[in-house]
Amino acid sequence: MTTSAPAIRVTDLRKTYGAFAAVDGISFEIEPGETFALLGPNGAGKSTTVEILEGYRERSGGDVSVLGSDPRHATLEWKARIGIVLQQTGESGNVTVREQLTHFASLYPRPRDVDEVLAAVGLEQKAKTRIKSLSGGQRRRVDVALGVIGRPELLFLDEPTTGFDPEARRQFWELIRSLSREGTTIVLTTHYLDEAAQLSDRAAVIAAGRLIDIGPVDELGSTEARVPIVRWRDGQGGHERRTAEPARLVAELAAALGEPVDLEVIRPSLEDVYLELVASVEEVAA
Ligand SMILES: Nc1ncnc2c1ncn2[C@@H]1O[C@H](COP(=O)(O)OP(=O)(O)O)[C@@H](O)[C@H]1O
Ligand SMILES: [Mg+2]
Repeated sequence: MTTSAPAIRVTDLRKTYGAFAAVDGISFEIEPGETFALLGPNGAGKSTTVEILEGYRERSGGDVSVLGSDPRHATLEWKARIGIVLQQTGESGNVTVREQLTHFASLYPRPRDVDEVLAAVGLEQKAKTRIKSLSGGQRRRVDVALGVIGRPELLFLDEPTTGFDPEARRQFWELIRSLSREGTTIVLTTHYLDEAAQLSDRAAVIAAGRLIDIGPVDELGSTEARVPIVRWRDGQGGHERRTAEPARLVAELAAALGEPVDLEVIRPSLEDVYLELVASVEEVAA
């Protein structure tokens, strides 16, 4: 395999259920070592897309190459190079966390150390607990642990941190960053825009089965959507103005009003940009 070949190449991917197109002609590439986020509202087609890439779902059309192979013809060797955390699993069962991890580790040629993985997902204290006795968030951590135990080159994470408390999410981010530093290619779908902004190099936004934007996280959306907003209050009430030169506006306000009340300079977050993007698609569809 040459290093310049993309880890994933998707060309005009389509998935239909009867007359309904869940994925309606999507194309993108993901480079080796990249952390790539797939964003979009519920029902956009994110899980359908990643499940096709994982070899879990048949596609209706288009071409897909994942680590140089078509997931339709997945071999055991190919599967061993890929880690998967599905949107819905919630491992349950009578075995303990350590037993489950040890069992999965034995299936791979070059697994990670079980204790290291337990620590990375914050389950050291639960190693001897039966999985069925864990909370929902803890079971989700088991899913993540099982996704990474085989030391995958490519890791798919479909809403991995849903149900995590804030501390667990921070821990999980550290894990993802360390996997990324080791060179793992990561495909992440998430509802948390801050998570995508923290972790990913590039992101794609999909809505209604179509790709509406793709690029580095800090370049998504229109230039206009990323222009800072200045807010302040005076005798007439609240004001808000978008300007590429917020310092100049603030200086003018200070000269005219003294210290403006409730002064704020806001740089639109990925969430703001994303909401504007998705709203523009919904307007066209309406
Ligand atoms: N097996 C199925 N049969 C019919 N429709 C489905 C099936 N699976 C998914 N869909 C539909 O496809 C669309 C995309 O679903 P999905 O990929 O799960 O969205 P996302 O992960 O972005 O929330 C949704 O409208 C969903 O209802
Ligand atoms: Mg989904």
